[in-house]
Amino acid sequence: VPGRQELLGGEGRSTEPRRSKVAIVGAGAVGSTLAYASLLRGAAREVVLYDLDKAKVEAEALDIAHGIQFTPMGTVSGSDDIAICADADVVVITAGAKQRPGQSRLDLAGATIDIMRALVPRLVEVAPDAVYIMVANPVDVVTYAGLKISGLPAEQFFGSGTVLDSSRLRYLVARECGVAVQNVHAYIAGEHGDSEIPLWSSAMIGAVPLLQWGFTVDGGLLDEARRARISEEVVGAAYRIIAGKGATNYAVGLAVVRIIEAVLRDEHRVLSVSSLLEDYLEISDVCMSVPTVVGRAGVGRRLVPVVTETERAGLRRSAESIRSVAQRFGF
Ligand code: LAC
Repeated sequence: VPGRQELLGGEGRSTEPRRSKVAIVGAGAVGSTLAYASLLRGAAREVVLYDLDKAKVEAEALDIAHGIQFTPMGTVSGSDDIAICADADVVVITAGAKQRPGQSRLDLAGATIDIMRALVPRLVEVAPDAVYIMVANPVDVVTYAGLKISGLPAEQFFGSGTVLDSSRLRYLVARECGVAVQNVHAYIAGEHGDSEIPLWSSAMIGAVPLLQWGFTVDGGLLDEARRARISEEVVGAAYRIIAGKGATNYAVGLAVVRIIEAVLRDEHRVLSVSSLLEDYLEISDVCMSVPTVVGRAGVGRRLVPVVTETERAGLRRSAESIRSVAQRFGF
């Protein structure tokens, strides 16, 4: 006789461990999309949504639950009671100030940090052993503040960082060069924001170093000018989407599901998440994105690719920008 889980389950077969619970804090566009994407990909067996707005969080969960027949086996529920996050394996924090047209992510720091001062201690109380993934912006500053407020080890509390930006970069390079995006290995590092740095010198397209690629699909060259345009398009992506539809949610939702899968499946996958750096290319005491091994315990080795002096200087500038904002709010 099928167990309760099977009776609740859908048609597909998810590949995560038998029991895995993801708690998503914030049922706005990002949090709800993340809940939907997590179930669609079978990233976790149980997905819960927590938000102060009872009607909204219950409606988002119900709307997803009605489609659960068509997803890999899983359950979804929503509540305005933080107890729904109890004993989660992964907690994703999307609740934060909303970036308005023309605002930079760093402009949101004060409001989002205030939310974290109240929220993080209550989450750690109900889910002390969870791996925490911060998504709220400015994610690097807020990851640093949240880590300090939580009192948790740095490996257990990190941010989505530039995983999304790296995905945007790979999409654009793949399109320009006429190759599958899965064959573009390139990272954006530094701030998830205006000071982010594309690590062009270590990027690869298949077995070819990106800097030696040659022709693009329109017969041009992937030269410095073209790379600069791509970089500008990555940095400006969120502004453009926010101006058009008010928020970004799909790509960030997919990027964060990827991080959740790396944790729950202990994949040891290299992702440019934002974590506390100590003596990384002489950068310390700041949360910033670099290529990092992510597994069940959270963040592991931070990888140090070959970087040019220009890239190294850019990383230092990015670290300074993040640190100066964090210090302005007492961190
Ligand atoms: C973006 C938001 C998640 O870059 O900061 O779309």
